[in-house]
Amino acid sequence: LRIMISGAPASGKGTQCELIVQQYNLTHISTGDLLRAEVAAGTENGKLAQEYMQRGELVPNDVVVAMVEKKLASATNGWLLDGYPRSLSQAEALENMNIRPHLFILLEVPDEILVGRVVGRRLDPVTGKIYHLMYSPPETPEIAARLIQRGDDTEEKVKLRLETYYSNVQSVLDVYKPVTKVVDGNRPKTEVFADIQNLITELQ
Ligand code: AP5
Ligand code: ZN
Repeated sequence: LRIMISGAPASGKGTQCELIVQQYNLTHISTGDLLRAEVAAGTENGKLAQEYMQRGELVPNDVVVAMVEKKLASATNGWLLDGYPRSLSQAEALENMNIRPHLFILLEVPDEILVGRVVGRRLDPVTGKIYHLMYSPPETPEIAARLIQRGDDTEEKVKLRLETYYSNVQSVLDVYKPVTKVVDGNRPKTEVFADIQNLITELQ
Protein backbone atom coordinates (compact mmCIF):
# COMPACT_ATOMS: atom_id res chain seq x y z
CA LEU A 1 0.00 0.00 0.00
CA ARG A 2 1.38 3.38 -1.02
CA ILE A 3 -0.28 6.57 0.22
CA MET A 4 0.55 10.26 -0.04
CA ILE A 5 -1.00 12.76 2.34
CA SER A 6 -1.07 16.45 1.52
CA GLY A 7 -2.65 19.58 2.92
CA ALA A 8 -1.80 23.02 4.24
CA PRO A 9 0.38 23.59 7.31
CA ALA A 10 -1.41 22.15 10.39
CA SER A 11 -4.16 20.54 8.31
CA GLY A 12 -3.53 17.36 10.33
CA LYS A 13 -1.17 15.35 8.12
CA GLY A 14 1.07 14.20 10.97
CA THR A 15 -1.89 13.50 13.26
CA GLN A 16 -3.61 11.30 10.67
CA CYS A 17 -0.32 9.56 9.88
CA GLU A 18 0.01 8.56 13.56
CA LEU A 19 -3.42 6.92 13.30
CA ILE A 20 -2.80 5.35 9.88
CA VAL A 21 0.50 3.68 10.81
CA GLN A 22 -1.05 2.27 14.00
CA GLN A 23 -3.53 0.38 11.88
CA TYR A 24 -1.74 -0.35 8.62
CA ASN A 25 1.79 -1.68 8.41
CA LEU A 26 3.34 1.25 6.52
CA THR A 27 6.56 3.22 6.80
CA HIS A 28 5.74 6.83 7.69
CA ILE A 29 8.03 9.21 5.81
CA SER A 30 7.56 12.85 6.85
CA THR A 31 9.98 15.23 5.15
CA GLY A 32 9.28 17.84 7.85
CA ASP A 33 10.23 15.35 10.61
CA LEU A 34 13.30 14.14 8.68
CA LEU A 35 14.48 17.72 8.14
CA ARG A 36 13.91 18.65 11.80
CA ALA A 37 16.03 15.61 12.76
CA GLU A 38 18.83 16.85 10.46
CA VAL A 39 18.60 20.31 12.04
CA ALA A 40 18.71 18.83 15.55
CA ALA A 41 21.74 16.70 14.63
CA GLY A 42 23.51 19.77 13.26
CA THR A 43 24.43 18.17 9.92
CA GLU A 44 25.39 20.22 6.87
CA ASN A 45 21.99 19.49 5.32
CA GLY A 46 20.36 20.48 8.59
CA LYS A 47 22.14 23.83 8.66
CA LEU A 48 21.06 24.57 5.12
CA ALA A 49 17.49 23.35 5.66
CA GLN A 50 17.01 25.40 8.81
CA GLU A 51 17.25 28.72 6.97
CA TYR A 52 14.49 27.78 4.56
CA MET A 53 12.28 26.21 7.22
CA GLN A 54 12.49 29.32 9.41
CA ARG A 55 11.36 31.39 6.42
CA GLY A 56 8.52 29.00 5.60
CA GLU A 57 10.01 28.23 2.19
CA LEU A 58 10.67 24.90 0.52
CA VAL A 59 14.05 23.37 1.26
CA PRO A 60 16.02 22.87 -2.00
CA ASN A 61 15.57 19.61 -3.84
CA ASP A 62 19.27 18.66 -3.54
CA VAL A 63 18.61 18.13 0.17
CA VAL A 64 15.10 16.71 0.09
CA VAL A 65 14.90 14.40 -2.92
CA ALA A 66 17.81 12.10 -2.01
CA MET A 67 16.64 11.95 1.60
CA VAL A 68 13.20 10.70 0.54
CA GLU A 69 14.48 8.27 -2.06
CA LYS A 70 16.71 6.60 0.51
CA LYS A 71 13.75 6.14 2.87
CA LEU A 72 11.47 4.84 0.10
CA ALA A 73 14.06 2.23 -0.88
CA SER A 74 13.96 0.74 2.62
CA ALA A 75 10.14 0.84 2.94
CA THR A 76 9.47 -2.71 1.79
CA ASN A 77 5.99 -3.01 3.41
CA GLY A 78 4.58 0.05 1.68
CA TRP A 79 4.77 3.68 2.63
CA LEU A 80 2.90 6.73 3.78
CA LEU A 81 4.46 9.93 2.43
CA ASP A 82 3.64 12.98 4.58
CA GLY A 83 4.35 16.37 3.00
CA TYR A 84 6.11 15.02 -0.08
CA PRO A 85 6.02 15.75 -2.97
CA ARG A 86 5.10 19.41 -2.50
CA SER A 87 6.27 20.84 -5.80
CA LEU A 88 6.02 19.83 -9.42
CA SER A 89 9.75 19.06 -9.59
CA GLN A 90 9.49 16.70 -6.61
CA ALA A 91 6.51 14.90 -8.18
CA GLU A 92 8.45 14.60 -11.42
CA ALA A 93 11.46 13.14 -9.61
CA LEU A 94 9.18 10.35 -8.33
CA GLU A 95 7.50 9.87 -11.71
CA ASN A 96 10.93 9.46 -13.30
CA MET A 97 11.58 6.58 -10.92
CA ASN A 98 8.12 5.08 -11.56
CA ILE A 99 7.16 5.69 -7.95
CA ARG A 100 3.42 6.30 -7.70
CA PRO A 101 0.78 6.21 -4.95
CA HIS A 102 -2.44 4.18 -4.87
CA LEU A 103 -4.09 7.06 -3.04
CA PHE A 104 -3.35 10.79 -2.70
CA ILE A 105 -5.22 12.29 0.26
CA LEU A 106 -5.78 16.05 0.35
CA LEU A 107 -6.84 17.36 3.76
CA GLU A 108 -8.90 20.54 3.47
CA VAL A 109 -9.13 22.98 6.38
CA PRO A 110 -9.98 26.72 6.25
CA ASP A 111 -7.00 29.06 6.79
CA GLU A 112 -8.43 30.72 9.90
CA ILE A 113 -8.67 27.30 11.61
CA LEU A 114 -5.09 26.46 10.59
CA VAL A 115 -3.66 29.47 12.41
CA GLY A 116 -5.26 28.38 15.70
CA ARG A 117 -3.90 24.89 15.25
CA VAL A 118 -0.38 26.16 14.59
CA VAL A 119 -0.09 28.41 17.62
CA GLY A 120 -1.47 25.73 19.98
CA ARG A 121 0.60 22.84 18.64
CA ARG A 122 3.16 21.19 20.92
CA LEU A 123 5.44 18.20 20.31
CA ASP A 124 6.67 15.56 22.72
CA PRO A 125 10.43 15.27 22.11
CA VAL A 126 10.48 11.83 23.77
CA THR A 127 7.74 10.07 21.77
CA GLY A 128 7.45 12.43 18.80
CA LYS A 129 3.71 12.62 19.41
CA ILE A 130 1.75 15.69 18.27
CA TYR A 131 -0.41 17.58 20.79
CA HIS A 132 -2.54 20.72 20.87
CA LEU A 133 -3.07 22.73 24.04
CA MET A 134 -6.84 22.79 23.44
CA TYR A 135 -7.74 20.08 20.93
CA SER A 136 -5.33 17.30 21.93
CA PRO A 137 -3.98 18.10 25.39
CA PRO A 138 -1.19 15.97 26.93
CA GLU A 139 -2.36 12.96 28.95
CA THR A 140 -0.18 13.55 32.04
CA PRO A 141 1.51 16.50 33.82
CA GLU A 142 4.83 14.77 33.15
CA ILE A 143 4.27 14.92 29.39
CA ALA A 144 2.92 18.48 29.65
CA ALA A 145 6.15 19.62 31.33
CA ARG A 146 8.40 18.41 28.51
CA LEU A 147 6.41 19.60 25.47
CA ILE A 148 8.21 21.82 22.95
CA GLN A 149 7.06 24.25 20.26
CA ARG A 150 8.36 24.30 16.69
CA GLY A 151 10.37 27.38 15.65
CA ASP A 152 8.11 27.91 12.62
CA ASP A 153 4.86 27.72 14.60
CA THR A 154 4.10 31.41 14.91
CA GLU A 155 1.18 33.30 13.41
CA GLU A 156 3.57 35.33 11.26
CA LYS A 157 5.46 32.34 9.89
CA VAL A 158 2.36 30.30 9.18
CA LYS A 159 1.28 33.00 6.73
CA LEU A 160 4.50 32.50 4.78
CA ARG A 161 4.10 28.70 4.94
CA LEU A 162 0.55 29.03 3.61
CA GLU A 163 1.76 31.17 0.70
CA THR A 164 4.38 28.55 -0.17
CA TYR A 165 1.75 25.83 0.06
CA TYR A 166 -0.82 27.57 -2.16
CA SER A 167 1.73 28.48 -4.81
CA ASN A 168 2.77 24.83 -5.26
CA VAL A 169 -0.16 22.58 -4.46
CA GLN A 170 -2.08 22.82 -7.72
CA SER A 171 0.79 21.57 -9.86
CA VAL A 172 1.18 18.54 -7.57
CA LEU A 173 -2.57 17.85 -7.65
CA ASP A 174 -2.49 17.87 -11.43
CA VAL A 175 0.00 14.98 -11.39
CA TYR A 176 -2.06 12.84 -8.98
CA LYS A 177 -5.58 13.82 -10.06
CA PRO A 178 -6.69 10.25 -10.92
CA VAL A 179 -5.94 8.95 -7.41
CA THR A 180 -6.75 12.09 -5.39
CA LYS A 181 -9.43 12.10 -2.69
CA VAL A 182 -10.32 15.30 -0.85
CA VAL A 183 -11.07 14.83 2.86
CA ASP A 184 -12.67 17.49 5.06
CA GLY A 185 -10.03 17.92 7.75
CA ASN A 186 -12.04 20.42 9.78
CA ARG A 187 -13.67 17.80 11.99
CA PRO A 188 -12.56 15.80 15.04
CA LYS A 189 -9.50 13.73 14.17
CA THR A 190 -11.32 10.42 14.70
CA GLU A 191 -13.96 11.42 12.12
CA VAL A 192 -11.29 12.42 9.62
CA PHE A 193 -9.56 9.10 10.21
CA ALA A 194 -12.81 7.17 9.65
CA ASP A 195 -13.04 8.71 6.18
CA ILE A 196 -9.44 7.77 5.44
CA GLN A 197 -10.07 4.19 6.57
CA ASN A 198 -13.02 4.00 4.16
CA LEU A 199 -10.87 5.28 1.31
CA ILE A 200 -8.22 2.64 2.04
CA THR A 201 -10.87 -0.09 2.25
CA GLU A 202 -12.23 0.94 -1.15
CA LEU A 203 -8.77 0.34 -2.61
CA GLN A 204 -8.59 -3.26 -1.45
P1 AP5 B 1 6.18 20.11 7.79
O1 AP5 B 1 6.69 19.69 9.10
O2 AP5 B 1 5.64 19.10 6.90
O3 AP5 B 1 5.14 21.28 8.03
P2 AP5 B 1 3.75 21.66 7.34
O4 AP5 B 1 3.56 21.16 5.99
O5 AP5 B 1 3.64 23.10 7.57
O6 AP5 B 1 2.73 20.81 8.14
P3 AP5 B 1 2.67 20.67 9.70
O7 AP5 B 1 3.60 19.62 10.17
O8 AP5 B 1 2.79 22.05 10.29
O9 AP5 B 1 1.16 20.26 9.93
P4 AP5 B 1 0.41 18.85 9.84
O10 AP5 B 1 -0.47 18.90 8.64
O11 AP5 B 1 1.34 17.69 9.98
O12 AP5 B 1 -0.53 18.99 11.12
P5 AP5 B 1 -0.46 18.25 12.55
O13 AP5 B 1 -0.99 16.87 12.45
O14 AP5 B 1 0.87 18.44 13.19
O15 AP5 B 1 7.34 20.92 7.03
C1 AP5 B 1 8.06 21.91 7.72
C2 AP5 B 1 9.00 22.63 6.78
O16 AP5 B 1 9.96 21.71 6.26
C3 AP5 B 1 8.37 23.28 5.55
O17 AP5 B 1 7.87 24.56 5.82
C4 AP5 B 1 9.56 23.29 4.58
O18 AP5 B 1 10.43 24.36 4.89
C5 AP5 B 1 10.27 21.98 4.91
N1 AP5 B 1 9.77 20.88 4.07
C6 AP5 B 1 8.98 19.84 4.44
N2 AP5 B 1 8.70 19.03 3.40
C7 AP5 B 1 9.35 19.57 2.33
C8 AP5 B 1 9.43 19.22 0.95
N3 AP5 B 1 8.77 18.15 0.46
N4 AP5 B 1 10.18 20.00 0.14
C9 AP5 B 1 10.83 21.09 0.62
N5 AP5 B 1 10.77 21.49 1.91
C10 AP5 B 1 10.04 20.74 2.75
O19 AP5 B 1 -1.57 19.10 13.35
C11 AP5 B 1 -1.40 20.47 13.62
C12 AP5 B 1 -2.04 20.81 14.98
O20 AP5 B 1 -3.45 20.67 14.87
C13 AP5 B 1 -1.61 19.89 16.11
O21 AP5 B 1 -1.53 20.63 17.31
C14 AP5 B 1 -2.74 18.85 16.20
O22 AP5 B 1 -2.89 18.33 17.51
C15 AP5 B 1 -3.94 19.67 15.77
N6 AP5 B 1 -4.92 18.88 15.03
C16 AP5 B 1 -4.66 17.93 14.07
N7 AP5 B 1 -5.81 17.42 13.58
C17 AP5 B 1 -6.82 18.07 14.25
C18 AP5 B 1 -8.26 17.99 14.18
N8 AP5 B 1 -8.87 17.15 13.33
N9 AP5 B 1 -8.98 18.81 14.97
C19 AP5 B 1 -8.35 19.69 15.84
N10 AP5 B 1 -7.00 19.79 15.94
C20 AP5 B 1 -6.25 19.00 15.15
ZN1 ZN C 1 3.45 17.53 10.07
